[in-house]
Amino acid sequence: MLKGKRILVGICGGIAAYKSADLVSRLKKKGACVKVIMTKNAGEFITPITLASLSGNKVATDMFSCPQDWDIQHISLAQWAEYIIIAPATANFIGKAASGIADDLLTTTVMASKAMVIAVPAMNTNMYNNPIVGRNIESLATHNGYLFFGPASGHLACGDTGTGKMEEPTAIVEYVERLTNASRSYEGKTVLVTAGPTREALDPVRFLTNGSSGKMGYSIAGAAAARGARVILISGPTHLQPPASVEFVPVVSAVDMYNAVMDSYKECDIVIKTAAVSDYRPAVAYNHKMKKTQNEISLDMVRNPDILAQLGKDKGKRILVGFAAESIDIIEYAKDKIKKKNLDMIVANDITQEGAGFNSNTNEGFILDSNGGMEQLTRMDKMEMANIILDKIACLFGKDNQ
Ligand code: CTP
Repeated sequence: MLKGKRILVGICGGIAAYKSADLVSRLKKKGACVKVIMTKNAGEFITPITLASLSGNKVATDMFSCPQDWDIQHISLAQWAEYIIIAPATANFIGKAASGIADDLLTTTVMASKAMVIAVPAMNTNMYNNPIVGRNIESLATHNGYLFFGPASGHLACGDTGTGKMEEPTAIVEYVERLTNASRSYEGKTVLVTAGPTREALDPVRFLTNGSSGKMGYSIAGAAAARGARVILISGPTHLQPPASVEFVPVVSAVDMYNAVMDSYKECDIVIKTAAVSDYRPAVAYNHKMKKTQNEISLDMVRNPDILAQLGKDKGKRILVGFAAESIDIIEYAKDKIKKKNLDMIVANDITQEGAGFNSNTNEGFILDSNGGMEQLTRMDKMEMANIILDKIACLFGKDNQ
């Protein structure tokens, strides 16, 4: 339902800007209140008069035009907007936003706003694949909670064929509708998310760990908070900034994580265990740094508690969701884990696939549920997957978003 939603559309200077006129028109037809900011370069591709006619509102282009009714434009638009759609989002806009540069009306407004930001990138394939652009997208997604929709693949205006095409306005509108429908579906729920790896100490300077980045769990935590949930994020060591408005509990080892989870379990309605918990820890963790000798050494390891299996034994009415990182027989192992750990749902991925699992911005795999349901998830951004997982969980507690 977009009726009455206050949507600010930011248009940057790219050839795809012509599609933004259709986007504004479609949002209006759905009943949204739409205002538009165009960058100076956007004006090279499309005129403000077109957007003003379609949105029914004056189009803002200039930071330094005389204040109307003594409203400071970037502040009033920033406060007015519930959702900001940047379409097309150019590499330049993404780079500036990721670096905290606010040198025009659009970047200043976005930075001053608490609205949900949906960026719809469009650019040449080589630009999109440039690691600097990738890093900026990752930074905005993980530190600022931006949602990225697209880009799609196809024939580009520059003549290349590849990734970089702006998603079609119809698809953008559907995506935003899905977000707004889901927006308060977790109100009143407490969601516990575990994320990242655990570290198992050998001595004060050495530890055993794994390559989990924490991105999947942090994306879920941020998306659940955006839907109105109280979120407790218990995380092993990562390089990520916890999303705003989650209760953050940093831990180091599997035993620390076990204790932190058990402390919060009673208060939770939903537990989502994305953490890559170490199954074993060294039998002895030395207080002082181990010294080398001439001899070979071997390591005795003891089992860590299986946190999720323990939660499954005292499940009550809670919804338990696990993750399974597998390299062979994915579906079989995942089904087995649903049963063994008494889960409602498991998200399984094949960590041997490029673009899935550990340390990747994207993920793909399968969602399996305890009733035998199974859905394949094609490769997508982890934030997008987080939203699909939350939609599925909402169906379990009776808040069907469809
Ligand atoms: N998990 C957990 N505690 C552990 C190990 C795993 O809570 N000690 C949770 C993970 O967070 C994940 C799920 O159990 O949600 C499955 O984890 P995974 O490592 O795939 O499976 P394991 O149960 O450890 O089985 P295996 O290592 O044999 O694949």
